[in-house]
Amino acid sequence: MLGKNILFGAFAILASLAATVAADNVLALTPDDFDKTIGSTPALVEFYAPWCGHCKSLAPVYEELGQAFAGKNDKVLIAKVDADAHRKLGSRFHVTGFPTIKWFPNGVNGNSEDYQGGRDLDSLADFVSKQSGVKSSIVKVNPSVTVLTDATFDSKVLNSGKSALVEFYAPWCGHCKNLAPTYEKVAQDFLNEENVLIANLDATVEKKVAQKYGVTGYPTIKFFAPDGTVEDYLGGRTQQEFIDFMNKKAGTQRVAGGLLSAEVGRIPELDTLAQKFVATQNQSEKKTLSTQGIELAATLSTDNASAKYYGRFFEKALATPTFPTTEAARLAKIIQGKSVNRARLDDFSIRHNIISVFAEATTAPSGKDEL
Ligand SMILES: *[C@@H]1O[C@H](CO)[C@@H](O)[C@H](O)[C@H]1NC(C)=O
Ligand SMILES: *[C@@H]1O[C@H](CO)[C@@H](O)[C@H](O)[C@H]1NC(C)=O
Repeated sequence: MLGKNILFGAFAILASLAATVAADNVLALTPDDFDKTIGSTPALVEFYAPWCGHCKSLAPVYEELGQAFAGKNDKVLIAKVDADAHRKLGSRFHVTGFPTIKWFPNGVNGNSEDYQGGRDLDSLADFVSKQSGVKSSIVKVNPSVTVLTDATFDSKVLNSGKSALVEFYAPWCGHCKNLAPTYEKVAQDFLNEENVLIANLDATVEKKVAQKYGVTGYPTIKFFAPDGTVEDYLGGRTQQEFIDFMNKKAGTQRVAGGLLSAEVGRIPELDTLAQKFVATQNQSEKKTLSTQGIELAATLSTDNASAKYYGRFFEKALATPTFPTTEAARLAKIIQGKSVNRARLDDFSIRHNIISVFAEATTAPSGKDEL
């Protein structure tokens, strides 16, 4: 008796769990309700078969898509049809393979077209948004790559005076999808460089520009120099290879993670004095070197931030011998933390580069890939 109750309880929990997991935001339609449900509402419909592998891999993405447009059923529908069980419904729309995804711009009343885009959430959601004018609830977290169009290309690239890297992609292209996360990181690495642009362009939509530059394969990556010269990017596709290329072309000194390289902000004459200052244990020599350092820093320029930092560090290091190591550690922590404002990050990098000369053994912080 007791055992039976426990068993029933377990079943009830399992059943409710299953209901939660399968929280269906995708309308499952049959011949009985297809026309009635869709009516004249724009709809994206996936025709699938239960045994089809590609359909199974699409299922979780498609469920997310349904979720992204949930609550907007009066404006756009995300639906699916088991076209193996309901073959007539499939053949009515000329479905011959699975999955077939069709867009019905005017519901069942008008024509339908095959969806040809990528089967990732972003591509699907972008398509539905563009076609229906309904915004999805997806929050884009990686907006660092500048998106170009035929209309914006000239102003953002050709007439911008910037060193621009432009990827011509197609939504369905696998190599382009593989490149996307790396390309996004590269764009982040150069966010603080106002004369560098990392951009992309959907060549299947923005055809004028793609044609002008003879783009036939995807991805095609081109570099546009400020002087108007254009060249194909033929380098490797790792983050570091893109960074090296752009540093060389644009004269920047970025490292992976978006920081400045360890040489930025350093002044050789002051480095030499700082190294002597660190090397000697003789307090009166230290004092002399510190004074020389402060004086040299002051003569370099009144508005040279690097020189000012050298001056301040000579003063502090003389008064408090532990200052360089504590300051280097403090700056490294700030740089590696996630809270620092991107605009101020370069200043912290420069300060850290300089204090590291005073703090002998302190190594430069590595780039923060996780940013
Ligand atoms: C420290 O250096 C000064 C100047 O070079 C020198 O006169 C003095 O003897 C040195 N002191 C010691 C303890 O070595
Ligand atoms: C600061 O002065 C040094 C040495 O003259 C120079 O190399 C550096 O470019 C200057 N930095 C700025 C920001 O002007």
